[in-house]
Amino acid sequence: MRVSEVGIKGFRNVCETVFEPCDEINIFYGENAQGKTNIVEAIWLFSGMKSFRGAKDSELIGYNESFAKLNIKFFNSVRENKAEIIVSNKRNAVLNGVKLHSCAALIGKFSAVVFSPSFLSVVENGPAERRKFIDTAVCQIKPSYAALLSEYSKLLKQRNSLLRDVMFDSSLLDVLDVIDEKMTAAGEKIAQERKKYLFECEPAAKKIFEGLSSGKEEIGFLYKSSYDEGQGLKAAVKENRKNDIINKVTSAGPHRDDIEIFLNGNSVKSFGSQGQKRSCAVALKLTEAHILKEKTGEQPVIILDDVMSELDAGRQDFILNHIKNRQVFITCCDPSPVFGASGGKKFEIQNGKIIKCI
Ligand SMILES: Nc1ncnc2c1ncn2[C@@H]1O[C@H](COP(=O)(O)OP(=O)(O)O)[C@@H](O)[C@H]1O
Ligand SMILES: [Mg+2]
Repeated sequence: MRVSEVGIKGFRNVCETVFEPCDEINIFYGENAQGKTNIVEAIWLFSGMKSFRGAKDSELIGYNESFAKLNIKFFNSVRENKAEIIVSNKRNAVLNGVKLHSCAALIGKFSAVVFSPSFLSVVENGPAERRKFIDTAVCQIKPSYAALLSEYSKLLKQRNSLLRDVMFDSSLLDVLDVIDEKMTAAGEKIAQERKKYLFECEPAAKKIFEGLSSGKEEIGFLYKSSYDEGQGLKAAVKENRKNDIINKVTSAGPHRDDIEIFLNGNSVKSFGSQGQKRSCAVALKLTEAHILKEKTGEQPVIILDDVMSELDAGRQDFILNHIKNRQVFITCCDPSPVFGASGGKKFEIQNGKIIKCI
């Protein structure tokens, strides 16, 4: 996948612009808070996924604007495509002149992998970050998974709200039965898809990690369910119902599951050094890109948002070597460490404007 043109208007602090990235490494550099991440965030949104910063749509629109309009031209292995996203009270998308029913319909049409500083702590952070990683990865290889996730989260919300009301109205127990049935069915499917993904990505991750650690360590994953897998989610939810009503939350399901990462059989979260944790994060991201290519046949664009300065020279080189032949967007304050490695384009960003392009 190659982005050949980007148009941004009314988006965050970015001044209206159209620019042409090169097919290799594109570096956006400049001081803090100038709009570098905003530019790569605009590109990322074409993956159809939510902002990688967890921003609400309304936060994407420039302060004095009523809507934001983003355009890209991109090549996949088949043809040149044109896509447009309008963010107003809702996000709409058009692909090759056809209005899509939602922005999420772009999932699988344009693919990207984003690596940002918060992901460097994916191992030591809470499980939510690890679930987000796997869900984003699975969505892009299987767009129907996004619908499954959104169905599950709707049902979970309904259930949690019923758990609060059922104390006062026991007739709602019948409704709870119906919700439980649907929610556990969706939940089981989500857990299955995640386990399948972990199983499929483990060999690639092992190989990548081997390169990163010079063959000293072997990475491994384990999907940790929030319930006894032999029992199954349906039975677990049934069993937990009384407690769930008391606590007013749903205690078992994929929203509570986790992924444990091991090096030579030891939990990295518990026993790993800072360096090992970072290497795991790097390996996970590179694996995500690898699997995406393997499953969809398309090479995702790679976005490295402010991560290079957080990594030592060895890991920086490893990443840059690994993503050769792909289109890359890098943001950084000091471009010198990556300048040498790149024959690509450099954009200097100041106050939401591209003030220099070399
Ligand atoms: N909706 C918005 N409208 C206008 N400016 C915004 C909006 N959201 C964020 N900003 C501004 O964008 C700037 C941060 O941009 P960012 O891309 O994160 O900077 P960096 O260059 O450090 O990556 C801040 O000055 C912030 O105030
Ligand atoms: Mg930034």
